[in-house]
Amino acid sequence: MRTTEEQRNVLKTRFDGLQATVKDARDFWIRNPAQNVLHEHQQALHNSVPIITVVNFKGGVGKTTICSNLAAHFAEQGKRVLLIDCDYQGSLSDTALSHGRVGNFSATAQLLLEPGHDSVALRAAAERLSKINSNLWIYPAFYDFSRAEIQMMFRWLVGQEQEIRFNMADYLQSHAFKEDPSSRFDIVLIDCPPRLLTGAVTVLTASTHVLVPTILDGASHIATLNTLSAIQQFQMKLNPKLRILGIVPSMVSVAGSYSANEQHFIAEIERQLPELYLGLVPVLKNYPILRRQELAKAGGSEILVAADGNNANIRQAREMFGALAGYISTSVQWRRPDGQDGPIIAMPGRENRRVAS
Ligand SMILES: Nc1ncnc2c1ncn2[C@@H]1O[C@H](COP(=O)(O)OP(=O)(O)OP(=O)(O)O)[C@@H](O)[C@H]1O
Ligand SMILES: [Mg+2]
Repeated sequence: MRTTEEQRNVLKTRFDGLQATVKDARDFWIRNPAQNVLHEHQQALHNSVPIITVVNFKGGVGKTTICSNLAAHFAEQGKRVLLIDCDYQGSLSDTALSHGRVGNFSATAQLLLEPGHDSVALRAAAERLSKINSNLWIYPAFYDFSRAEIQMMFRWLVGQEQEIRFNMADYLQSHAFKEDPSSRFDIVLIDCPPRLLTGAVTVLTASTHVLVPTILDGASHIATLNTLSAIQQFQMKLNPKLRILGIVPSMVSVAGSYSANEQHFIAEIERQLPELYLGLVPVLKNYPILRRQELAKAGGSEILVAADGNNANIRQAREMFGALAGYISTSVQWRRPDGQDGPIIAMPGRENRRVAS
């Protein structure tokens, strides 16, 4: 039985938590986890498949477009790809499912935020996007995702849950998810929302890598620097193994060169980054994603890489997403079928070959 004094202290801690959420969401979300939780997570990530989150806390910079087209590219290359839509706006799900929805969804991304689901059943219930490519699966998100995010946050705040930030990581590192050779994925691509709430926190904790797209303009470059500073806090407190693949110039106006304005913002990012981020983060100047009307079709419902046809724009989309995917391939550790880590050699225009280390 708790004494009145103890009860008062518990309530005070919860109240402080609530106040901190309102005052500084980042501090609240990134506070230290229990040492054993962190340790187990790091051990599990050791032989993880690449889990890449596309993130920028600025809205509308091309995250979903890049995520879906990269996924289609890797699937065309023969990789088994899992997409996770962690944005309650559901843009990735709209994009993927507009190509043909198959049946009802027995597993949506919100289940990955919650603890205690049977991971074998969850794995089996991922939606296969055969109409786009038979190597592609998705956990979609709908508006309910937002309710699940808030519910989980409150359960954590009031002490009904000890820890919620590692829930998705626990699933993505579970035996059912990563060990069964017949159902294993080669890569997971996650679309992150532009706000720091349960979804974003959970995916940044679960990821092995992040990719940060940005438009080269004033507002986006500042948001990009802030995003990197938040990622650094995740690396320090929750996910020391998280690696930044780079900053991807998005919606670039002209092929082959950057405008003076775009060059100015690349230079600004490169100049200001060392003040905010301790490590090296490359601006992926050689892998721009061009602004193309076809990618904006119907509010972003197009996965151009997966589109039928062979016109110049589709070919160009395949090339630019293929180039970025090639860079990613050389930067991540693919998991070999024997479960060991090992480098791969990227073969331009061909399936990537795994090589013995
Ligand atoms: N390379 C591109 N060329 C033309 N239009 C693009 C391109 N990339 C994205 N768009 C369009 O810009 C809008 C925003 O893109 P997208 O949804 O990919 O951004 P986002 O960062 O995921 O946004 P949010 O933060 O709201 O999730 C969409 O209408 C999309 O179709
Ligand atoms: Mg989006």
